[in-house]
Amino acid sequence: MPRMTPTSENPTLTVELGPLKLKNPVLAASGTFGYGEEYSGIVPLKHLGGFITKGLSWEPRRGNPPPRLAETSSGMLNAIGLENVGLEVFLKEKLPFLRRVPCPVLVNIFGSTEKEYAELAGRLAEVEGIAGLEANISCPNVKAGGAIFASDPKTVYRVVAKIRRATSSFLMVKLSPNVADISKIASAAEEGGADAISLINTLIGMAVDLQSRRPVLGNITGGLSGPAIKPIGLRMVWQVSQVVRIPVVGIGGIVSATDALEYLLVGARAVQVGSAHFIDPRIGLKIIQGIKDYLEKNQLPDLNTVIGSLKV
Ligand SMILES: Cc1cc2nc3c(=O)[nH]c(=O)nc-3n(C[C@H](O)[C@H](O)[C@H](O)COP(=O)(O)O)c2cc1C
Repeated sequence: MPRMTPTSENPTLTVELGPLKLKNPVLAASGTFGYGEEYSGIVPLKHLGGFITKGLSWEPRRGNPPPRLAETSSGMLNAIGLENVGLEVFLKEKLPFLRRVPCPVLVNIFGSTEKEYAELAGRLAEVEGIAGLEANISCPNVKAGGAIFASDPKTVYRVVAKIRRATSSFLMVKLSPNVADISKIASAAEEGGADAISLINTLIGMAVDLQSRRPVLGNITGGLSGPAIKPIGLRMVWQVSQVVRIPVVGIGGIVSATDALEYLLVGARAVQVGSAHFIDPRIGLKIIQGIKDYLEKNQLPDLNTVIGSLKV
């Protein structure tokens, strides 16, 4: 069927992340959308821009001791500890469903050494039916005394370059906000060969229980997400968009079309919705509709004209 020309009554939401074309800019974030299958009964996946699977490591991981979640003002803390099924079970039990999903699926990967990232990426490169990888580099590097990969530009360059050599698949690198200079880290990921950058992951936080005088989380500290972190996400996406040429994907505290559009204004080419899924699993669909309504109301035929159009 011939494609209709976009008009303000029929705006286009299509965006491109380098080689990856999305029918709209709304993706579900890693760790908040399972492997898609869990949500497929209530969310028609074909309407999403895409989704990112739960972080995957070579070996299965049991994660942190409970309690692993705590509610905070305008957000939540999680200390899941990257629990996941591991590569073998992923390939056998999760991939058959993912191959049939009618929207792009990115597999989120992590490791505790550069070699592990590269081996995982290399193994997944042989797999058909996934649109690409998102490398979560907010994890401890065991060879560097547990400092997170994402905190040092040289380490970021090295790990991304190693992944790049292992795969020609679409590679998005997900940055941590727990760093001094996000622009330097983003540039290092670009130099290492990333096709796109996503940010932000969670901020390290803590909750305490006055009554028991104990930390609320079994792991003591956890990752803060939700509306509380949106201003930080916006600031970092803005800064990174000024210094890299590759597409940037905005994450952090998005619960509405307005939030998503704000990220696009500061330079994000797409967005990811995370914690909001725990309140409303269909939130992604509502955000997509809200973006469409905004374009229609403002007589904008193409979403791409909004991207990076912040007036400063
Ligand atoms: C329960 C939970 C689990 C998460 N697991 C992962 C993960 O496995 N890998 C990853 O890169 N990010 C993970 N994240 C981070 C989210 O993908 C996202 O970057 C973060 O929550 C900020 O977005 P939000 O404010 O919309 O939730 C997780 C977040 C939550 C709340």
